[in-house]
Amino acid sequence: MSIDSAWLRCPNCSRDLAAIDERVYGCPSGHRFDRAKHGYLTLLSPRAPRTVGDDREMLAARASLLDGGAYSPISDALIEAIGNDATASNVASLRIADLACGTGYYSGALARSIPDARLLLADRSPDAVRMSLRSIPEATGVVLDLWSPLPIRDGVVDVALNVFGPRNPAEFARVLAPGGRLVVVVPRPGHLAELRRDGQLLDVPAGKAEQVVKQFAPHGLDLIASTTIEYALRTDPPMRRLLVGMGPSARHATTVTTTGTEPEQSIDVTISVDILVFGHATASTG
Ligand SMILES: C[S@@+](CC[C@H](N)C(=O)[O-])C[C@H]1O[C@@H](n2cnc3c(N)ncnc32)[C@H](O)[C@@H]1O
Repeated sequence: MSIDSAWLRCPNCSRDLAAIDERVYGCPSGHRFDRAKHGYLTLLSPRAPRTVGDDREMLAARASLLDGGAYSPISDALIEAIGNDATASNVASLRIADLACGTGYYSGALARSIPDARLLLADRSPDAVRMSLRSIPEATGVVLDLWSPLPIRDGVVDVALNVFGPRNPAEFARVLAPGGRLVVVVPRPGHLAELRRDGQLLDVPAGKAEQVVKQFAPHGLDLIASTTIEYALRTDPPMRRLLVGMGPSARHATTVTTTGTEPEQSIDVTISVDILVFGHATASTG
């Protein structure tokens, strides 16, 4: 596992980070950051909020479900969206940053389909970054806070991925290279509707995609393409427990049970998301 410091800047003073020795990275102002034994850097400013990100149970639920292929149509569509994008697919050694990487499921799929790509795996949860690095050991792993100024240099990201993660429009616009692409996945109101009906999951507000487009526009990021992915996922009770346990509602649900239907019954659960591709306004208008 190695750190490619060409991605990185100091979370305290924003100056470029470089390797000081094998284990320590630092900036010219004298701020120093030790590489964890699992290979990642923690780049949080002292002012970063106390958010913790996903815990091990949520990550384990997510890994179990994703590795079983439940969301593979979403990852296939992501690969297609990036592969079909003339600008992104023309860049040699594409630099892909997974901002809220979780278990690394989507960046792992991208790394397999674009073997020359260089990857940055970023999340607030150290367990998430560690888990992602296990499947993509050649990537650079960083624990960071997406609500704060990012410890990522200006314009170094060719493709930024943000799948069901927190969004920071101003910072996403800053780190995206000229001609770069930001790919955002958001749930549609029908997503997991069968599990929401009995109150196990928080509702998805209508018009989320439109809201994201409005959030990014003032920062010079325009929508270039969008795709809806919707399908029925056959689920047994353990799968439904994983679907509830892997999301933010796991913290809100008092008990994680199966749906209100017969406990042992297999039912179809709707998977429904929008994949939104953004680029700098100047790049998209030519
Ligand atoms: C719903 S999960 C999505 C993970 C992954 N993209 C996926 O779809 O499998 C949201 C992720 O955002 C991370 N996260 C939450 N708050 C964050 C923050 N303030 N900064 C960075 N990551 C954060 C969580 O740790 C979690 O891994």
